Amino acid sequence: MANKQRVLLLGATGETGGAILKGLLNEPESFEVEALVRPSSVTKPAVKALAARGVNIRVADIEGPLEDLVKTLAGIDVLISTIDPGGQLAQLQLATAAKEAGVKRFVPCAFTTVAPPGGVMALRDQKEEVYQHVRKLYLPYTIIDVGYWHQISFPTLPSGRVDYAAVIKPKVEIHAGGAQPTILIDLNDIGPFVALIIKDPRTLNNSVIAYGDVLSQNEIFEIMEALSGEKITREYISADALIAARAQCAAANKADPRNHLTWLQLVGQDYSYSKYVRGDNTPEYAKYLGYLDGTELYPDFRPTKFVEFARELLDGKMEKIYQNMVFPAKVEVASQK
Ligand SMILES: NC(=O)c1ccc[n+]([C@@H]2O[C@H](COP(=O)([O-])OP(=O)(O)OC[C@H]3O[C@@H](n4cnc5c(N)ncnc54)[C@H](OP(=O)(O)O)[C@@H]3O)[C@@H](O)[C@H]2O)c1
Repeated sequence: MANKQRVLLLGATGETGGAILKGLLNEPESFEVEALVRPSSVTKPAVKALAARGVNIRVADIEGPLEDLVKTLAGIDVLISTIDPGGQLAQLQLATAAKEAGVKRFVPCAFTTVAPPGGVMALRDQKEEVYQHVRKLYLPYTIIDVGYWHQISFPTLPSGRVDYAAVIKPKVEIHAGGAQPTILIDLNDIGPFVALIIKDPRTLNNSVIAYGDVLSQNEIFEIMEALSGEKITREYISADALIAARAQCAAANKADPRNHLTWLQLVGQDYSYSKYVRGDNTPEYAKYLGYLDGTELYPDFRPTKFVEFARELLDGKMEKIYQNMVFPAKVEVASQK
């Protein structure tokens, strides 16, 4: 009991946060898990469901008065944030409060692909602003990145067999030739990885890359074709077309920075540019940037390979993610048929 960590999770009703919650609740001997919920969400059924699972709820407006937030964080050992892509900078005050409250480890909202800060991905740059703030505070931290989820990496099939689980459909684009290897993870493996990482003193004040596979888009499409017996008609997007579309999204975001859908379009284009044109999202580049490799830290944990995920997907067993989310329209990108 004495060695249990009291973990406060922001985002427990979301996709990343929900996966982490599951992973931590699976280890009641190690963690006492609580959820940080904003006042406007307290009455949501998803929050009530958390309480029904035995998760204590702490209510706070993370952009409200600092002293209230500091009180909310009292007694917390580990604070994990999985705030949505639109809310990154709201973590600045959260970090300040965590420092004042004596939180022993802050896990800011990384949980993204490997990419350098400084103009490659606007979302990554907002995350960096939070990391810099954390370091200026001298707040103990761990940054956990995970590559791209299997759940949003598979192409759709002509039969419509996997449409039930697809966030975007059809999804048959191959970017910049499709040969660039890229780090992948099953969303369901993020929780067990986080549980391992936050118990581990080696990861304190470090960055960790946690993942289950490294595959190119061409390899992903081939796996889906081999397992399904179907032929996917690919839509090829050249590097130049992607760069042009990304510039268009950046201009739209600059003209209307408060537009959430325009922001999400830019985030999507930045991901493709970083992963497929620059080739950032690899274990080798992660090591170069100073990350510890989760597969080396925890050799006994066997994360799900994409091919294993794909079998379950084709068997109709995948849980659909983002059930209630409105996604922006696809950005029109010139393709080369
Ligand atoms: N690696 C990948 O492939 C991948 C894919 C998607 C996302 N991501 C990353 O994961 C992160 C989380 O994204 P997600 O898609 O998992 O998020 P999500 O499903 O949209 O969930 C966001 C969560 O944050 C909570 N939240 C938002 N603002 C809050 C506030 N001010 N106070 C308290 N709670 C707040 C939401 O609660 P409410 O119920 O109050 O709304 C919700 O629980 C993103 O920042 C993104 O970088 C990575």
